[in-house]
Amino acid sequence: AEIKPAFVQNRCYARSQWDAQIRQLCRENDALYQGFSLLTANATELQKPGIAGIAKRLGCTMPQLVFRFALQLGMMPLTGTSSEKHMGADLASYGLELNPSDMAVVEQIALGN
Ligand SMILES: NC(=O)c1ccc[n+]([C@@H]2O[C@H](COP(=O)([O-])OP(=O)(O)OC[C@H]3O[C@@H](n4cnc5c(N)ncnc54)[C@H](OP(=O)(O)O)[C@@H]3O)[C@@H](O)[C@H]2O)c1
Repeated sequence: AEIKPAFVQNRCYARSQWDAQIRQLCRENDALYQGFSLLTANATELQKPGIAGIAKRLGCTMPQLVFRFALQLGMMPLTGTSSEKHMGADLASYGLELNPSDMAVVEQIALGN
């Protein structure tokens, strides 16, 4: 393309390891990956005990965990919230830090528990 895309915006499914192939393509082409439907597209996976366990240990909510995970993966998380309260809580996830083991659990949550 004469003008290279700077962003790719995709519905982001845990079952594709959070769109791993497209995120890789973005990295190779200097495009920023933006994920949407992080919560609604992954309702089943996000109910798993592995997610609840990490959220409990970090003292955060499941959405905060998901948004922080997405940031640490290198994507720009989008949210469909219409709630100022939820938006404020989600932004507080910048203060969280998932360790490498947490990241692996969430990345593979569709395959595990
Ligand atoms: N950017 C795009 O290209 C694109 C694509 C698809 C859809 N959309 C639009 O985005 C909206 C929903 O998209 P989505 O499903 O992709 O969004 P999402 O961020 O996966 O989920 C948003 C839904 O989760 C609820 N929620 C509960 N706790 C939340 C929290 N702490 N933080 C954020 N959300 C929380 C929201 O309710 P509350 O409002 O009560 O927080 C809302 O119903 C729709 O209006 C849709 O039309 C945009």
